[in-house]
Amino acid sequence: MTHPTKKSDIYSRAKTTADQLRAAIDTTPSIAMILGSGLGAVADELSNPTFIDYKDIPGFPVSAVEGHAGRLVFGELDGVNVVVMQGRAHYYEGWSMREVTFPVRVFSLLGVEYLVVTNSAGCVNETYTPGDLMIISDHLNLTGDNPLRGHNEDEFGPRFPDMSDPYDSQLRELIRTVGSELGVDLKEGIYAGVAGPSYETPAEVQMVARVGGDAVGMSTVPEVLVANHCGIRVAGISCITNMAAGLSGQKLSHDEVKETADRVRETFVTVVRNLVAQIGELS
Ligand code: HPA
Repeated sequence: MTHPTKKSDIYSRAKTTADQLRAAIDTTPSIAMILGSGLGAVADELSNPTFIDYKDIPGFPVSAVEGHAGRLVFGELDGVNVVVMQGRAHYYEGWSMREVTFPVRVFSLLGVEYLVVTNSAGCVNETYTPGDLMIISDHLNLTGDNPLRGHNEDEFGPRFPDMSDPYDSQLRELIRTVGSELGVDLKEGIYAGVAGPSYETPAEVQMVARVGGDAVGMSTVPEVLVANHCGIRVAGISCITNMAAGLSGQKLSHDEVKETADRVRETFVTVVRNLVAQIGELS
């Protein structure tokens, strides 16, 4: 059996992948975006796009979830060089957290400084309604796992990374500004990340509410942990797609999640686009 703390080859694999991507593109992205179910439309707004399917990128996990295109799009959004992940692999599909977060390692080596991460989430805070957008202020890792477990990737960051500002406070302020400039009412709250794939039971939703979660979902936490480890500054936005289990008397379905994400697509794209423009002015 391999010793669990044996040096892993993630750094060398990520470097090979980053070198290959660099050869295929002629710009250096400063912002990476990971777009959740039904929220991939931002990628359609890029100018001079270069599309690269995950299946053609060594080491990239390929998601099988419906509604995810499964490709990287490099391009410019309002003059800012970005790379967009249209679709992402999820832990619940069976990928390890290290595999799920491999793209973030690659982005770090490409020189990405900011990560804008979006997701669909169930509503736990009963003052929110489906269709609301929520600035993620912090998260609760309720997955029982951590992508940084095992050998530390010293090339990327320390063994015990600080997590005291996981969703960068300056970027949160920028999202608030974008919301008020656009007249979009943005909520702000704590994202509880669970492993899935089953939706929560009503008792689990009550637990999340009691420990301080405002929304619950099955993604984001692994990528944000790795981004923090690499020193990438994170901005997170959840699209609240449904009332969490037991709060509405209705059964949950992926169709409802996709329908709500579709309904808010335009507002969502505008918020993300304006956020990118604002982040572009920071650098
Ligand atoms: N629970 C977990 N993940 C989700 C939900 C939910 O209610 N809605 C969208 N993703």
